[in-house]
Amino acid sequence: MAYLVVATLLALHSATAQRTSLPAPRANLTVTNAKTSLTLLYQNNLNASDENNHVGALLLDAVPEYSAAASACAALNEQLLSRETLAEYEQDIAYQLAYQGYAGYFGVEDGFYVDGGVFTVGGGNASSSSSSSTALPVLCTQSANNGSSSAPPANGSYVTLEAADNTFVGYRNKKSFRFLGIPYADTPSRWKYASLYSGTGETLQASSYGAQCAQGSSGSEDCLFLNVQTPYIPKAGSRENLRPVMFWIHGGGFTGGTGADPVSDGGDLASKEDLVVVSINYRLSTLGFLAIPGTDIKGNYGIADQIVALDWVVANIAAFGGDPERITIAGESAGAGSVRALLGSPRAAGKFQGAIALSNLGGGVTLGLDGDYGTTYSSYYTINQSYTAAGPQIFTAANCTSSTLTTQIACLEKLPALQLVSLPTVARYVVQDGTYVNTPNLILTASPSTNSTNSTTAHVPVIFGTTANDGASFSNFPPANITTHAEGLQHALSINATWAANIIASTLFPFSNSSHNLTLDSFNVSQRIATDKTFRCVDQATVYAGSFSSAPVFPAAYYYEFTRTTGGYDPNHLGGPADNDPNNPYFRLHGADLPWVFGTLGKAQMRDEEDLWSVQLVSSLFASFVRAGDPNPGERELRVRGYERVLEGVRRAGRWRGVGESGEEEEEEGHVVRLLDWPGGSRGWVDVEQCEWLGYGLRYYLDGGA
Ligand SMILES: *[C@@H]1O[C@H](CO)[C@@H](O)[C@H](O)[C@H]1NC(C)=O
Ligand SMILES: *[C@@H]1O[C@H](CO)[C@@H](O)[C@H](O)[C@H]1NC(C)=O
Ligand SMILES: *[C@@H]1O[C@H](CO)[C@@H](O)[C@H](O)[C@H]1NC(C)=O
Ligand SMILES: *[C@@H]1O[C@H](CO)[C@@H](O)[C@H](O)[C@H]1NC(C)=O
Ligand SMILES: *[C@@H]1O[C@H](CO)[C@@H](O)[C@H](O)[C@H]1NC(C)=O
Ligand SMILES: *[C@@H]1O[C@H](CO)[C@@H](O)[C@H](O)[C@H]1NC(C)=O
Ligand SMILES: *[C@@H]1O[C@H](CO)[C@@H](O)[C@H](O)[C@H]1NC(C)=O
Ligand SMILES: *[C@@H]1O[C@H](CO)[C@@H](O)[C@H](O)[C@H]1NC(C)=O
Ligand SMILES: *[C@@H]1O[C@H](CO)[C@@H](O)[C@H](O)[C@H]1NC(C)=O
Ligand SMILES: *[C@@H]1O[C@H](CO)[C@@H](O)[C@H](O)[C@H]1NC(C)=O
Ligand SMILES: *[C@@H]1O[C@H](CO)[C@@H](O)[C@H](O)[C@H]1NC(C)=O
Ligand SMILES: *[C@@H]1O[C@H](CO)[C@@H](O)[C@H](O)[C@H]1NC(C)=O
Repeated sequence: MAYLVVATLLALHSATAQRTSLPAPRANLTVTNAKTSLTLLYQNNLNASDENNHVGALLLDAVPEYSAAASACAALNEQLLSRETLAEYEQDIAYQLAYQGYAGYFGVEDGFYVDGGVFTVGGGNASSSSSSSTALPVLCTQSANNGSSSAPPANGSYVTLEAADNTFVGYRNKKSFRFLGIPYADTPSRWKYASLYSGTGETLQASSYGAQCAQGSSGSEDCLFLNVQTPYIPKAGSRENLRPVMFWIHGGGFTGGTGADPVSDGGDLASKEDLVVVSINYRLSTLGFLAIPGTDIKGNYGIADQIVALDWVVANIAAFGGDPERITIAGESAGAGSVRALLGSPRAAGKFQGAIALSNLGGGVTLGLDGDYGTTYSSYYTINQSYTAAGPQIFTAANCTSSTLTTQIACLEKLPALQLVSLPTVARYVVQDGTYVNTPNLILTASPSTNSTNSTTAHVPVIFGTTANDGASFSNFPPANITTHAEGLQHALSINATWAANIIASTLFPFSNSSHNLTLDSFNVSQRIATDKTFRCVDQATVYAGSFSSAPVFPAAYYYEFTRTTGGYDPNHLGGPADNDPNNPYFRLHGADLPWVFGTLGKAQMRDEEDLWSVQLVSSLFASFVRAGDPNPGERELRVRGYERVLEGVRRAGRWRGVGESGEEEEEEGHVVRLLDWPGGSRGWVDVEQCEWLGYGLRYYLDGGA
């Protein structure tokens, strides 16, 4: 049932419209938004093998008459879109323009100036009303950086705009306008909170990424940069037609990662979903998280950086086409832990309208299993606890062991950044610093001890969830010489024999024995336990409490599990499914969901057509949430945009129902967890009894757990 948009190219009388000869292409013309808004049109089906079969176009504000159209394109180093291009890519361009009309950005009825005439979508009524002296928007070619998106910007592709009292020089490629390496804060001093970038009147090159924050053997302390990909730049001074903003906080254990990761590049969401995507760097490791009791080194520098970046976005994103009142913060792993911290932070309150936490970590507090890696992501250390976990160890490893704390700190301040973050112990914990984070846990209930009306927990729609096997990335594949399942569990989960026996005695985590492979069977069970205790139980309990308390914190909450992924964090070298066939068993690893959220699955990663269809579908679900706080895309919009496959997936999988939206838990049984796949579906809460046994049941927060 393809919804075909009829497109027509109408030639103007030759007497009134001559093809204008173009000026010779200029090597490095500066393109600005001084006279017109700039919209980049690209019909993006996310099929990386299909990019050569699509072209972009640039859409400019109306010019008074045809004769002004060619020079408007020439000012971009482009040409009026030709008849040949229109004919060859008619369907793409028709969908793109129909969407512009649907969204109310442009009136489409009267058509658009193209080379030699007026182009209309939706039928043949334009001919009578259009003439060469009608004011119409202009369609130009988009030839700049038409090839690989990782290539350096071509001459003539630079785009300049004014924001934050500075001039930014970004560029465009096939999929979006790109402004990279924007300094959002002044170069931070070590263990001091950052402040907004204070430079003014500067011309800032924003066509390559800034340094990543110090990690391992690379990066810098001067790393507080953010990147913007946008489909639209408003005319200078205008705030019309602003797009929703996705504010991305990368993961990496609070010790690694960067906003420049290609997997989270915003170009695909900008073009396919009409979103502005911002990705940020924030200080990591000991530089971002050292906290020392009794001093003014209170920790959370990395979290505070995120809030400064958010402040910059709220203040300036409109100039880049983003709506400062429709910002969704999103992150994966430590990025999700950051989202959780920001949900409760008084300093972040009111600065975002939605939140997405992908594979947030937690658990372990009452699980009986000591040393759970994930605990501190959701249950915050005090400054003292954080110091005990990392402080003296850092001073010792750094040889900063003089008699007074003051001189020890002075010594540590002199250690080069890369040495500091490479010490055997680093600080990487969100702490209760009293300003940025002032509760031991995200407050999710209105019980007397944690009064939600009194708490700063943001009342915004949220999405939480996990991959099916997040814990497989945090469980060790047992050695081949194990002789029992119990031994396998001990190795895999780093637990003692007593605990392994307890787990087996619970009968809640049965071994399948189906593969007659002791190591694999043991790992299968251990990864389930690791997934439950470190990810699933805490995240299910979070949305449960946030939805079912007497005064729910979240106006809407959605929960998911990824059952189709590829790649991800794979320290055990588990690899993918046999024969690279996703119908064979494989583990859905931590971080393997990102190509689905961002629509960035590469050619080599695409195993079958359902991979592509699920990427198209899932990216639409998350984007819909960013747009409207609801992950269910509107059918009409999908039809207008030509996203037939997404529409099919939405219909087959059914609505993604909010947790608690009916007010009655029973009514939601069976479909509270959205399964993300092709087409996916829904199911009830996962491993309810298992989570209960692990000490992190659904009612954990409702019953006062923290
Ligand atoms: C960019 O412009 C410069 C200066 O005109 C020229 O030397 C160079 O070849 C151009 N590069 C490309 C990739 O067109
Ligand atoms: C073109 O302009 C950009 C942005 O101002 C600049 O970075 C680049 O070096 C220029 N290229 C040439 C060849 O002048
Ligand atoms: C053309 O215009 C007429 C009269 O305004 C209208 O009834 C008709 O629906 C239009 N047709 C299309 C295809 O837009
Ligand atoms: C973009 O690149 C493709 C593939 O190389 C080519 O077919 C197409 O003509 C180019 N389009 C433009 C507008 O340069
Ligand atoms: C086994 O581990 C648990 C949890 O770490 C601990 O409480 C218990 O004392 C240990 N038992 C033995 C026999 O070491
Ligand atoms: C935290 O540490 C400081 C300095 O070591 C100490 O004075 C204080 O009593 C500690 N506070 C708690 C609650 O342990
Ligand atoms: C600390 O001192 C030891 C022994 O002299 C040396 O091996 C090590 O490199 C020093 N560490 C740092 C961070 O300087
Ligand atoms: C409410 O907020 C006030 C001021 O921040 C604080 O002193 C008080 O302890 C809070 N009450 C509860 C029940 O959390
Ligand atoms: C929550 O705190 C607010 C402000 O302190 C207070 O007015 C309200 O009665 C409290 N609600 C509950 C349920 O304790
Ligand atoms: C089993 O293998 C592991 C690693 O390969 C080794 O460390 C361990 O000593 C072995 N255990 C036995 C009982 O052979
Ligand atoms: C058990 O499965 C693992 C993982 O697939 C594999 O590496 C190993 O060779 C298998 N062992 C046996 C005995 O088949
Ligand atoms: C992706 O694009 C390629 C090239 O056009 C095409 O052969 C392939 O069928 C497409 N994949 C899907 C799943 O549509």
